[in-house]
Amino acid sequence: MSKSLQAIRGMNDILPEQTPVWRYFEGTVSRLLDNYGYKQIRMPIVEFTELFKRSIGEVTDIVEKEMYTFEDRNGDSLTLRPEGTAACVRAVLEHGITGGGQVQKLWYIGPMFRHERPQKGRYRQFHQIGLEVFNLDGPDIDAELIVLTWRLWGELGIRDAVKLELNSLGTSESRGRYREALVEYLSAHHDKLDEDSQRRLKTNPLRVLDTKNADTQAVLVDAPKMADYLDDESRAHFEGLKARLDAVGIPYVLNPKLVRGLDYYSKTVFEWVTDKLGAQGTVCAGGRYDGLVEQMGGKPTPGVGFAMGIERLVLLLETLEQIPEEISRQVDVYLCAFGEEAELAGLALAERVRDQLPNLRLQVNAGAGSFKSQFKKADKSGALYALILGDDEMAQQVVGFKPLRGQGEQQSIAWDALAAHLATCVVQG
Ligand code: HAM
Repeated sequence: MSKSLQAIRGMNDILPEQTPVWRYFEGTVSRLLDNYGYKQIRMPIVEFTELFKRSIGEVTDIVEKEMYTFEDRNGDSLTLRPEGTAACVRAVLEHGITGGGQVQKLWYIGPMFRHERPQKGRYRQFHQIGLEVFNLDGPDIDAELIVLTWRLWGELGIRDAVKLELNSLGTSESRGRYREALVEYLSAHHDKLDEDSQRRLKTNPLRVLDTKNADTQAVLVDAPKMADYLDDESRAHFEGLKARLDAVGIPYVLNPKLVRGLDYYSKTVFEWVTDKLGAQGTVCAGGRYDGLVEQMGGKPTPGVGFAMGIERLVLLLETLEQIPEEISRQVDVYLCAFGEEAELAGLALAERVRDQLPNLRLQVNAGAGSFKSQFKKADKSGALYALILGDDEMAQQVVGFKPLRGQGEQQSIAWDALAAHLATCVVQG
């Protein structure tokens, strides 16, 4: 017997009963981003492998062990994008849309791919909504990014469940000085570090700060602090950001160990975390990357951005039961017609109603069926009202109008008056 085909582990179907929540989330975010003046950009899902190596960093978990990399038929090494920033920077450079200091406030949405160990909230194909802003170097735009996520959490009803963690990595010069001090300190305690941290000490020492190992964490207690190495410029930038968050009343926690898993950051880094989802609690994360565009071959161009994980935010909405009831109702009105003549009249009537009420969610029964079976389908569809066209209604050129949820008797409505009547009883999305 042949083995039945299955989706790849960690890559999920999003089934029809789940998509209303996704669309609600995506709709809420995209409306908000329109209102804050962000424009959508769409990049390919596959890029040259080199792009990710050069931007994310050769000695990061993503590049070292998580990328889906393959050779195409031309022998080129390609990679399914593990994140969006690299491709976005490539795109703005390729099209010259950040040249001459042009400000770009961009956003994107789509699948990303990382070969991580799947678990709740962590998948191999997952979806992000990301924002990237180019050519603005002040803390005001860093603040705007955080303020708009704060508003989003408010609109979604999840503000109380998320916490903002904040840090500054400083300029590359100040980070370089800090790295030296940290390496010197950790080298003196080399034997007490876990194996992974010993390796990172040589390749990417700042990531040691991120360790989950208790012994290494104990060593880190007396390690030099990044904040003490910030230069004046970075310090003023960070103070500027904090002052703005204070002005809006957004609470935050300073986390000096927040270093992020991608190498391109400088100055501001932040993460929105929740304790409601278990181990995979970061729902949104990002920061400033002032050196990245230049590192990728462009003119010096400041950049800042973040990405949120849609799966995690959908899970959070579900966990906190913050899903508005109306979003799961996909049908307002269901039309049942009995007999061929009624079916033809019903089809024409439905189209006339749709002309007048373009937002009405009107479903016409397909597949004929008895009164009982059509009625059952009408009820199951979740519709608020059924429209009924049988012999009697045909003879009188009316339609039976029956409330399916709650009170109300069936009434007869003239065909010509149907759209006007529906407009009064259905709130259209
Ligand atoms: P990141 O921290 O790697 O940053 O990912 C951002 C968010 O994507 C995470 O906070 C999480 O919500 C979600 N995410 C990451 N990996 C997975 C996974 N395996 N399964 C489910 N969700 C996941 C970036 O990707 C940066 N490009 C963000 C950025 C934009 N920084 C500046 N601009």
